[in-house]
Amino acid sequence: MRTAVYPGSFDPVTFGHLDIIGRASKIFDRVIVSVFAHSAKKHMFTVEERVAMLKTALKGRKNIKVDSFQGLLVDYVKKKKTDVVIRGLRAISDLEYEFQMAAVNRTLYPAIETVFFMPRQRYTYLSSSVVRDIAHFKGDVSKLVPPHVVKTIAARRGK
Ligand code: PNS
Repeated sequence: MRTAVYPGSFDPVTFGHLDIIGRASKIFDRVIVSVFAHSAKKHMFTVEERVAMLKTALKGRKNIKVDSFQGLLVDYVKKKKTDVVIRGLRAISDLEYEFQMAAVNRTLYPAIETVFFMPRQRYTYLSSSVVRDIAHFKGDVSKLVPPHVVKTIAARRGK
């Protein structure tokens, strides 16, 4: 049984994340999608809201679990009895940040493997921050996130 952890902020989940999760769940027996709960970043949605949006998006997907974690990713991964981390790589611009994170995690826990998946081209320039920006100016995000996330964003904007 091969389990992999896909960690992230997911603020909010986008079609790009769902693309990566779909690819990973074909290769691994079980994928745990986990929202990092203690980021220094300012978030649009609470951890509970981000977990709820992921759960709705992944409902019925038997080998995918949604969770959240605090503290170091390596400790969480060990607790889940795996050593595989999934990350998405969209463009070269992601590489430096991702390499640094993978290297730090490997220093902390040498057995860890970070496996990168490339989303389909149409999601190359999609990120949660792009979605938040468009949402901030009341733009249309329906091509970027699932319908229930569009609704959650609209409710947050007080529309
Ligand atoms: O979606 P994001 O914001 O790019 O995800 C970043 C995340 C949550 C994967 C990363 O910040 C993380 O793993 N944080 C946990 C704390 C940690 O382990 N830090 C050391 C590795 S950089």
